[in-house]
Amino acid sequence: MKKILILCALSAFAMANMHFEKNKKCSECHPTIYSEYKTSQHGKATIFKDPIHGAVYEKHPQYNKKEKYRCGHCHTPTADNLSALLKSNNGVTPDADNETQNEAVACAYCHRIEDVKHGVAMNKNLVSLKEKVYFTSKSNPGTSPFHGIKTKKSIFKDGKMCIGCHSHKSNKKEFQVCATDLNNNASKKNCIECHMHKVDGAPSTMSTGKTHTFHGFPGLHGDLTNLSQYVTMNISNTSDKKMFTVLINHDVPHASLLHPLRSSKLVVTVTRNGSVTKMQDRIIAKTIGSIKDGKPVPTPPWLATQIVKNTTIPANTKKAFPYAWDLKSGDVITAIFGYYLVKPKALKKFDLKENKEATKFRVIRKETFTVK
Ligand code: HEC
Ligand code: HEC
Ligand code: HEC
Ligand code: HEC
Ligand code: HEC
Repeated sequence: MKKILILCALSAFAMANMHFEKNKKCSECHPTIYSEYKTSQHGKATIFKDPIHGAVYEKHPQYNKKEKYRCGHCHTPTADNLSALLKSNNGVTPDADNETQNEAVACAYCHRIEDVKHGVAMNKNLVSLKEKVYFTSKSNPGTSPFHGIKTKKSIFKDGKMCIGCHSHKSNKKEFQVCATDLNNNASKKNCIECHMHKVDGAPSTMSTGKTHTFHGFPGLHGDLTNLSQYVTMNISNTSDKKMFTVLINHDVPHASLLHPLRSSKLVVTVTRNGSVTKMQDRIIAKTIGSIKDGKPVPTPPWLATQIVKNTTIPANTKKAFPYAWDLKSGDVITAIFGYYLVKPKALKKFDLKENKEATKFRVIRKETFTVK
């Protein structure tokens, strides 16, 4: 009981408005980490810096009724008027001139997460009230002239600090729009190991360290080079040469697409004597929606009550894509697997047809195979 009381006194659910040091301040001594972070989705999570987030919010009833900005829990957690943004029907919506709203998922916010509590609609981050003491996973961290450092191994080492925002989110209809559903039996299940790998460069200007954890947070937006080691492909054909299979080995402890906007595509061609034949594209996606006239139809997330269709590759699963095709010795099969941030079918709905990021096909893997 005593322990619980002490914890309550030192940290708060990030509902109330709290003050956080600015990202720019950190850049003075952590320039490398800052430059990686600035171009990451954490650095750009606001409606002003992320046109895709902005486009979806603009269609949201919360925006149209000037009702609230519930997204702020995770997209602008250090806004100095966060409680007003989250409160219903007070006319307060995001403001591009508010500097604290542009801080997005700020450095100081992440490094003040003390613990994560389970919630029904979404999880909650328990944020330390000590403005200038930052958590790390290191047992023997250095010292900083600007801030205190406290070791918080449990959640900064195993990735629990990520799941305050990345675990799940339900809409008003109590339907879970997205969920990371980590496979706890996986051998590799630490978010930080895969999404914050070690790269060259000192963690600070005052450090003798030669490497640091990468703060570009690669995901579908970023450079997929490092993540591609977890998504491999294998092509094989049957001995009668009437069929071949592309096997995707998704060695990841969460499903292949986490956000309902996304989709993947498997593009396969067969080349014979220089002429290329394209197989039908295989689309992989999760569609959420509701029942209309007795039939399931796709809807935006805020209207969804159920999963309409789900072909995403589950955690740590191999999925085979068979193709019936008469092959000959020497035929070259090429398979390309990649993602769209926004499903081509949803581009119109969110006015994103002209947006380069939203429409780009992002390749994670390409394999070729020659028929013997
Ligand atoms: C005046 C320089 C300075 C400023 C400004 C500064 N830091 Fe640091 N920080 C350091 C030094 C020095 C260390 C010790 C570790 C090292 O040698 O790199 C450190 C260590 C850390 C660590 C622990 C790293 C570890 O060793 O595991 C974190 C986390 C951290 N800083 C976050 C921040 C954040 C967030 C900000 C901005 C709000 C910030 N720092 C601003 C100098 C600074
Ligand atoms: C519980 C935390 C949380 C809340 C609340 C939340 N989001 Fe997000 N949002 C996330 C996370 C985490 C991601 C990254 C997920 C991913 O890429 O799979 C994300 C990603 C997105 C993206 C994709 C952005 C891109 O550039 O690809 C959109 C769009 C989005 N959110 C819209 C919204 C809107 C609109 C709201 C409010 C109505 C909202 N979110 C509320 C956590 C949240
Ligand atoms: C999404 C959460 C998140 C954000 C945002 C974030 N960090 Fe980190 N940071 C982490 C985690 C997790 C680690 C790795 C565990 C550890 O070493 O403590 C880490 C590690 C560090 C380290 C130690 C690096 C090393 O490898 O020695 C420093 C220093 C640091 N962060 C500073 C910053 C600064 C400065 C920013 C903003 C420019 C920032 N962080 C933004 C989560 C975050
Ligand atoms: C305060 C909430 C919050 C925390 C804590 C947080 N994230 Fe995020 N994360 C987000 C939001 C919001 C987005 C989406 C921003 C956008 O695209 O607009 C995001 C985006 C990402 C993306 C990019 C996805 C893509 O499609 O490119 C990755 C990867 C990611 N987070 C990993 C992590 C990891 C790993 C941790 C823990 C070290 C973590 N996040 C902690 C809120 C958070
Ligand atoms: C074994 C490595 C691995 C681990 C562990 C891992 N991921 Fe991923 N993650 C990936 C790969 C690879 C992708 C690319 C998409 C896919 O799954 O095919 C990805 C994609 C993502 C995305 C982007 C998805 C989207 O739809 O935009 C987010 C966000 C993310 N991971 C967050 C997390 C979080 C949070 C954790 C921990 C709870 C985690 N990941 C653990 C490898 C990993």
